[in-house]
Amino acid sequence: MLIANERVTFSQYPSVLKNIMNLEQAHESRQWLSHWSQLNRSATPLWNLPNLAEKLGVAKVCVKDESVRSPLGSFKALGAPIALIRLILRLWPEHKLDAKELISGHYKELFKAFTVISATDGNHGRALAAAAQSIGCRCVIVLHANVSLEREQAIAAYDAEIVRITGNYDESVEEAARLAATNGWHVVSDTSYEGYEDIPRDVMQGYGTIAAEIIEQTGAERDKPSAFTHVFLQGGVGGLAAGIVSYLWEFHGESRPQFVVVEPKQADCLYQSAAQGKAAKATGSVDSVMAGLACGETSPLAWQILQPGVDYFMTIEDDDAVAAMRLLASGNGSDIPVVAGESGAAGLAGLHVLRQSAEKSKAVCLDADSRVLVINTEAATAPSVYQGLVSESAESVLERQASWLNSGVRQPATA
Ligand SMILES: Cc1ncc(COP(=O)(O)O)c(C=O)c1O
Repeated sequence: MLIANERVTFSQYPSVLKNIMNLEQAHESRQWLSHWSQLNRSATPLWNLPNLAEKLGVAKVCVKDESVRSPLGSFKALGAPIALIRLILRLWPEHKLDAKELISGHYKELFKAFTVISATDGNHGRALAAAAQSIGCRCVIVLHANVSLEREQAIAAYDAEIVRITGNYDESVEEAARLAATNGWHVVSDTSYEGYEDIPRDVMQGYGTIAAEIIEQTGAERDKPSAFTHVFLQGGVGGLAAGIVSYLWEFHGESRPQFVVVEPKQADCLYQSAAQGKAAKATGSVDSVMAGLACGETSPLAWQILQPGVDYFMTIEDDDAVAAMRLLASGNGSDIPVVAGESGAAGLAGLHVLRQSAEKSKAVCLDADSRVLVINTEAATAPSVYQGLVSESAESVLERQASWLNSGVRQPATA
């Protein structure tokens, strides 16, 4: 399914949106993140995949590879620490804390009794647990029935206390809110709801780091066209897409690239929001192999950015995501092999689906001259699921990647 967004605007980044997210706050967040031990020091690679571009009949395909952002395995490592830092700075202004020292663990004694809690499908919870561990506060994570044991263990490894419920994601959100209210804990969620916007805004602002790096890696200039004609962004509640759209829109202004948001068919809350003109709920079962994208409700705050800023919304099948994982892992002839988890490959899956239909490609203005950016948002965060779907372990793909890099056939490529 594909829908052109009737409410998209073609203007400079509106000042009303600057009050929500802006380049200055994104840069400050990036500065702070550069002091966090859980993030790799260098920018994540922007791989150029010429064979894949040829196969898909476009001029260029680049993948921004967030799988190597952090040992935490996903881009979510950029959001939770920023939300936690800004929450603590707001709660204790009198301490005049230094954000970089806070995330480096200099104030551990002060925050021993401070507890944060979140419901999660995996990646956000893992990032929050790791940020809480670094800062020295307590973290409780509520998991719904379908979160795998593998993902639970990955979160528990960062000292988080796990509360497992028998219900679904929405019930885990309710349980987190109940526990927070009963115990005086603070919910640190990546999605917004009425009266709860500061924390999810700060999470989204952290994601701006990805866009800032893309701009540097492509030598892009302010208010000039981007190196890309199209940017594909996978959507759960819409936070990732809002973080990237907001940054690139403010930077490129009216010359911004076209944005396409991709979701699982069963968890189509953003697609439904575009159809209804307001933040809406998904119509499907909200159960997908793309665990990170299996979200039933749009984040209303993210929607404030996405409604005026995104050109197209589309849905894909689980099999499309698996095919894209395999495409990236294969290395397609002489492209670099890349490990992309189920949600990580969804943006590429969207491009692949559109290129299989002349009509849909035309509707999105995709042709042989298009230069497309996709973001691989996660590594093999559930290794056994990855191996089952790709028929190869992530380690084995990474070995082939290392040989590719050592072969000298082609240098690691930026756009
Ligand atoms: C790997 C991955 N990609 C993309 C997303 C989508 O992010 P958002 O829910 O902010 O739209 C998620 C969300 O958990 C995720 O885990």
